[in-house]
Amino acid sequence: MAASYSIGHPILDDDHDRMIAAWRELEASRTLEAAKAAASRLMAEASGHFDREEQFMVQCGYPDLARHKRLHAEMGAALRHVLLLPLLGKGGHEEFILAMRSLMDKWVMAHILGEDSKLAPYVRASRAGGSLGRPAVASRR
Ligand SMILES: [Fe+2]
Ligand SMILES: [Fe+2]
Repeated sequence: MAASYSIGHPILDDDHDRMIAAWRELEASRTLEAAKAAASRLMAEASGHFDREEQFMVQCGYPDLARHKRLHAEMGAALRHVLLLPLLGKGGHEEFILAMRSLMDKWVMAHILGEDSKLAPYVRASRAGGSLGRPAVASRR
């Protein structure tokens, strides 16, 4: 992951990396089928990630949890909406990529940089307090 995206939490940073990797795969896809497969992987990664991130927020007493949860829910709904377009026969491969691209820019990238980044000080505090041990977190996977 580019250092600018990192919030310092190994599991959550890995999640973000995998979401961005699925997105790159989608961008590189040559067919609508391949794009849909990458998009469903992205969707699955995102929903697991939102749960893990919200769980961490609860653990560290993040004060803006309710608003952040709402943003995750809105992002999930927007993602599901775009995923439905090809099923409804609305547009081909190119349109699907464009719709996903604007979603990624508006939601995912802006969200990671503008919202998730606010978690960094809480991650540092958890690390200092020893509650971010790798084995304990890794065993939840
Ligand atoms: Fe988030
Ligand atoms: Fe996130």
